[in-house]
Amino acid sequence: MRILLLTHAFNSLTQRLGAELQRCGHEISIEFDIADSVAEEAVALFKPELIVAPYLRRAIPESIWRHTVCFIVHPGIVGDRGPSALDWAIQNGEAEWGVTVLQAEAEMDAGPVWSSAVFPLRAAKKSSIYRNEVTQAATAAVLQAGERFAGGDFAPTPLAACTEARGQRRPLIKQSDRAIDWQHDDTATVLQKINAADGFPGVSDSLFAQPCHIFDAWPEGALIGNGAAEPGSLMARRETAVLKKTKDGALWIGHAKRAGNFKLPVALAFADEFASLPEMPLASWWRVAEESWQDIAYEEADGVGFLQFEFYNGAMSSAQCQRLRSALAWAKQRPVKVLVLSGGEDFWSNGIHLNVIEAAESPADESWNNINAMNDLARELIDTGAQITIAALAGNAGAGGCFLARAADQVWLREGVLLNPHYKNMGNLYGSEYWTYLLPRCLGEQGVGEKSRAIMRNRQPLTARQAADGGFADVCLAAERQAFRVDVARRAAEIAAASDLFEQLAAKRERRVRDEATKPLAEYRQEELSHMRRNFYGFDPSYHVARHHFVNKSPASWTPRHLARHRDIGWKVPE
Ligand code: COA
Repeated sequence: MRILLLTHAFNSLTQRLGAELQRCGHEISIEFDIADSVAEEAVALFKPELIVAPYLRRAIPESIWRHTVCFIVHPGIVGDRGPSALDWAIQNGEAEWGVTVLQAEAEMDAGPVWSSAVFPLRAAKKSSIYRNEVTQAATAAVLQAGERFAGGDFAPTPLAACTEARGQRRPLIKQSDRAIDWQHDDTATVLQKINAADGFPGVSDSLFAQPCHIFDAWPEGALIGNGAAEPGSLMARRETAVLKKTKDGALWIGHAKRAGNFKLPVALAFADEFASLPEMPLASWWRVAEESWQDIAYEEADGVGFLQFEFYNGAMSSAQCQRLRSALAWAKQRPVKVLVLSGGEDFWSNGIHLNVIEAAESPADESWNNINAMNDLARELIDTGAQITIAALAGNAGAGGCFLARAADQVWLREGVLLNPHYKNMGNLYGSEYWTYLLPRCLGEQGVGEKSRAIMRNRQPLTARQAADGGFADVCLAAERQAFRVDVARRAAEIAAASDLFEQLAAKRERRVRDEATKPLAEYRQEELSHMRRNFYGFDPSYHVARHHFVNKSPASWTPRHLARHRDIGWKVPE
C-alpha cells in the first residue's frame, strides 16, 4: 500500500512506524501537519491508500478523512479520549495502559476502532513510557490495523460497541491538576506528578523561591525519614541536580525551565544560586546501594565491568563527557576483561548537549569544547587495549552518540531501539567523534566509501534490525528490557571467560597498531574538526539556526525533502 504518515514531527514513534511499515513492503511518505492546505496537497500528490497519524496536535480536516481512511494512533486504552491520555494515566497510577488505533471522524478520538494493544504501566517518566511501551504497542496495533485494512473485509468496531472499552473522556490536564503540595504529598506522589509531566510541559513549581517548571526527578533513599528540613526546601546539590525535601523524604530534581527560557540542567538554569547549597557528592563511581541520583554508575559481575551513564535525553555536555571519560579511564584499571557501556535507560547518547550550548555565552566556543570533549571520550574508548569493549544500547542513539557507540569493539542493540547515525539534520553539521575512521571500519570499507556516504546522506533512522543487518551494529537482542539486560550480561560474561580471550585482545591491539600506522587517529580528528570549525565559526550560520530552532522547539514550517517523497522532482503515483 501507499501510506502517508501525517504527523506533527518526525519523532521516534513516527520513525519507528515508518520503518516497520516499510519493512512490511508498504511505500511510505511523510508530511508534517503544518496546515490543512499543505496536508491536502500531500494527499493529492501521493494519493495514499491509507493515512496513518502517529502524532497529531489537531484534527485531520474532513476534506481528507471523508475520502481516505485515516488511522489515528491514540496513546490510550479503548474508550479513552482527550489530549492528555498518558499524563492522566501516570498521574492516576493506572496499572495497565494501552494504545488504540481509531479511524478519524468528525469527533476527536471517537471514530471506530481498528485495533488496540495494552501494556503494564511502569512507574516512569511520561517520555520514557512513550518511547518504549507506547511505541511498542503502537507498532503492534498499527501493523495489525494495516493488515486488517489491506484484507478489505474487516469492519472497525464503533466505539460505543467496544465491549472492552474501559477508558473515558478526559479533559486537557492543567497545571492546577499537576500542582505539588509539598506539605502533604508524599515522595511517591510528587514523583508521580513530575513523571506525568516529563519531558513536556513539566510541573509548575519553584526552585530557590523562583517560579519554574521542574523535570527529571529521582528519589533519594538515604534520607527517607530524616525530617528536619521544611518540605519543599532545597537541601543539597550534586553535579547538576538539587535535592528537594518532601514530607517523608527527598527528591533530586535534575532539570528546570524558567519563563521565557528552554529546559536546562538546574545547575545552569539557576547558575547564580546553585553554588549556595551544600554539596552532597558521591564517594566514587561505584553504584551506591540505596536509591539515589547517580548519573554515572559502575558495577561488576563475572569478570565484566558495567558502566552506566544516565544523562537526561542522552545529551552530553562538555563536563559530562569529561566525567564519563574519567570514569572510563578508571574502569579500564579494574581487573576485568570486558567493559560494557550501558548508557541510559531511554537514550544511550544523542551527542553534544545542544541546550547547554545554546545557553552558553559563546555557543560557537561551547560547541567546540563539547565536540572536543566527545572526541576525547571516543578516543579513550578506542584506545582500550586490555579489555573487549561493548556498547549495549537499551535506548536510542542519535548523531555523535551513534559514533561514540561505534568506538567500542562491539555494538549490541535492544530490539526496538532506533539509531540516527548522521549529523546533517542539525544544520548540515559535518560531525566528528572519529566517524570517518569508525564508520568505514564497521561497514568493511577502505576509507569513506559509498556505504558510509549513503548512511550520512540518506538521513534515515535505522531500526535495530536494519542496523545489525547492514553492519552498523553487531547484534540485535531481546526487545524486553530485563531480557536484554540478562542477555547482555550473559554474553559479556561468556566473552570474559572465553578460552581465546587473550588472542582476541592481542588481535584487537594489533589491528589498532596497523590502523594507526596507516592513518593516525589524530589525522582523522584534525580533518573532521576542520569541517566542524567551519560549521561553528564559518560564515554559514545553518548549524546555529538549526540548533536554535531545535532547542526552542520552533514549529516546523515545511517537511524536509528527504522525508516527503511525494515532493521529489519527477515523483509520480505508480500506475
Ligand atoms: N542535546 C540536547 N537535547 C537533546 C539532544 C541533544 N543533542 N538530543 C535530543 N534532545 C532532547 C530533545 O530536545 C527532547 O527534549 P524534551 O525533553 O524537551 O522533549 C528530547 O531530547 C527527546 O528528543 P526527541 O527529538 O523528542 O527524541 P526522538 O527520539 O524523537 O528523536 C533524535 C531522537 C536523535 C533524532 C533527535 O533528538 C535529534 O535529532 N537530536 C539531536 C542530535 C544531534 O544533532 N546532536 C548533535 C550533533 S552530535
